[in-house]
Amino acid sequence: MKTTLSVIKADIGSIGGHLRPSEDLMETVKQHLESNKGSLVVDYRISNTGDDIAILFSHREGVGSSAIHELAWDTFVAGTAKAKETGLYGAGQDLLKDSFSGNIKGLGPAVAELEFEERENEPFLFFAADKTDPGAYNLPLYLGFADPMHCSGLMLSPKMSKGFKFVIMDVEHTEKDRYIELNAPEELYDIAALLRDNERFVVSKIISRETGEQAVAASTTRLHNIAGKYIGKDDPVMLIRVQGSFPAAGEILSPFNIGHYVAGFMRGSHTGPLMPVKMGSGISFFDGPPIVTAAAYCVQKGKFTEPVDCFDHPYWDYVREKVARKSTELRQQGFSGAAMLPYSELEYGGIVEKMKQLENKFKS
Ligand code: 13P
Ligand code: 13P
Ligand code: MG
Ligand code: MG
Repeated sequence: MKTTLSVIKADIGSIGGHLRPSEDLMETVKQHLESNKGSLVVDYRISNTGDDIAILFSHREGVGSSAIHELAWDTFVAGTAKAKETGLYGAGQDLLKDSFSGNIKGLGPAVAELEFEERENEPFLFFAADKTDPGAYNLPLYLGFADPMHCSGLMLSPKMSKGFKFVIMDVEHTEKDRYIELNAPEELYDIAALLRDNERFVVSKIISRETGEQAVAASTTRLHNIAGKYIGKDDPVMLIRVQGSFPAAGEILSPFNIGHYVAGFMRGSHTGPLMPVKMGSGISFFDGPPIVTAAAYCVQKGKFTEPVDCFDHPYWDYVREKVARKSTELRQQGFSGAAMLPYSELEYGGIVEKMKQLENKFKS
């Protein structure tokens, strides 16, 4: 019997601005799920990364199950009621539509789903990032699945020597999904040519060329493409199966020591380095820095082990310090040049108005 992992995340309200959901809200989400999951859900885990709440489900319904999506939607709606009742900031922020309509994609929440026949043992990693967008995973995925500098298994393991297929979405194409499939290592330069543009091209899946099995599912939602205006960043989630014919857990984690610069940070309009943090971390400096959490699990017959918090280890304290320094360095230049996103990515309509007014004042 196949197992499906679905992670569905939304920002439905937080304390003190966009910092962290309240315990009350987390408890409401948990209780709603507990009393409504019935026999639909085999197992679930709830976590927060910054101001976002993610529900990780395991079930038998397959990818895109409207029953699972609806349960998640209803849970976030119930949470929103609690967020409103208790005066949380941004209550219901990511619920962009009034009602559920079959699939939660396009309604605001981010979704990543993987369906597979469980291996004898089935280890996987669940990533969630806040104050950034789906392109934040492009570089770590490229390095983890296509570069032996990080993934030594590409050299050492015969099960990986054929490489991986990258499925990359053009997220600017909003009418319908538009994607391309490219093979590493033969088409590495083509993959790089697309993935350098984090705002437009986003890895949505990675598939083993040895076994045909899917290793990665990442969310590709861009909220500003749904709402047509700023309502928050598109804080992305991702599931990665590891070991065996996939990279080892540590090979996937390795590129996160770079603290690469991503889009997001304050008002979703700046550049900042992605800081690997402990599960449940909140947000602080300049509504950031952009953060990412990683929880490792094994799943068996749909039941999860407890998570291992991958970035809760002394090694990552050193990385966090380095990333904090990078963050401070770039913040020194405030609004200037590379510190802020280009005009097309600025998440506030206000700047458009301002430019219009200024346009009228130009003389020649
Ligand atoms: P073990 O031999 O301990 O299973 O480790 C293999 C591995 O993947 C290390 O990266
Ligand atoms: P979120 O997308 O995480 O809600 O952050 C929005 C923001 O504007 C932070 O400054
Ligand atoms: Mg928020
Ligand atoms: Mg958020």
